[in-house]
Amino acid sequence: TGGGESSGTSAPPVAHCLHQGYSSRTLRSWQGVAPISPANLVYPLFVTHEADGCEEIPSMPGQCRYGYRRVVSEVERLVHEGLRAVLLFGVVPQSVKDSTGSWADCPESPVVLALQLLSASAVIRSISTLLVADVCLCEYTDHGHCGLLNPHGRIANTQSIQRLAEVSLAYVKAGADVIAPSDMMDGRVAAIKQLLKSEGYEHIPVMSYSSKFASCFYGPFRDAAGSAPGFGDRKGYQLPPGSRGLAIRASVRDADEGADFLMVKPAGVYLDVIREVRNRTTLPIAAYQVSGEYAMLYFGAQHGAFDLKTAVLETITSIQRAGADIVISYFTPQLLKWLKEQ
Ligand code: PBG
Ligand code: ZN
Repeated sequence: TGGGESSGTSAPPVAHCLHQGYSSRTLRSWQGVAPISPANLVYPLFVTHEADGCEEIPSMPGQCRYGYRRVVSEVERLVHEGLRAVLLFGVVPQSVKDSTGSWADCPESPVVLALQLLSASAVIRSISTLLVADVCLCEYTDHGHCGLLNPHGRIANTQSIQRLAEVSLAYVKAGADVIAPSDMMDGRVAAIKQLLKSEGYEHIPVMSYSSKFASCFYGPFRDAAGSAPGFGDRKGYQLPPGSRGLAIRASVRDADEGADFLMVKPAGVYLDVIREVRNRTTLPIAAYQVSGEYAMLYFGAQHGAFDLKTAVLETITSIQRAGADIVISYFTPQLLKWLKEQ
């Protein structure tokens, strides 16, 4: 059933021949995005209060929770490999969690202690490695939600954004270079910016988790950080996975509030949103390849579905093609090596 003689077998018109445009490695490199620069990768790290601790995270093989002192040597080691930005999350025992998330910014807070030590490291300072502090309350509240709750168990938005701004200020005082609020409360970018400005820190940029979806792909992270909500879910403040208009409005709104960097999260299943945000803003966009995406790729490769390096590099290229400038990925240490091999 090869069709007529004229249709199936004749050569295509010369203008329809595409192969010559990508027949060599160099020609292929002319066709699209360049390999990501190491400086545009951000490595997320979990920090605990056990100073020299180091424990592997079962749901994220290859990733560890580091004690606030131990994390310094780990980051210094990676800086020598080309690392230029880390994103810090705190992990604290259930016993110290309370309704206001006191341990987010108390003097013993793992993130505060880690920021003090990291920002004092000559290695880290000399190569201007960015210390990005995630700001949220879910790792520190007894109810596990990202904001403060009113007596009816609903989000108290005004109090929440005041608290988030207070935590941001503490992180900046401890040495953070960038503040990254992931809570999704309304108005927190403006509240953070305002407080930082009034305290003389108007030079500190805010990277807003601006289009953040209510995603099952955060599962391994919630294990790692012990931050699953104690009741209910986050669907009242994280975006519905099917939303497009709302997702764009959320990023545009945060840009209007003064965000310096926007973010789409997760990355891989929201590439269309990255592109739509790209088409509507001149701000740099970060995309977060989240814990569940890490786990999918890791376990898929482990079970022989594909080669890990090839698969991860393809996902990063796709995220760049969608329009992201900055990629936050747990694969960053491997990527720094793989990019050198390219
Ligand atoms: C907490 C926070 C989450 C992630 C980053 N910050 C989890 C959540 O919102 O439930 C997810 C990161 C990941 O899955 O790698 N606000
Ligand atoms: Zn949170």
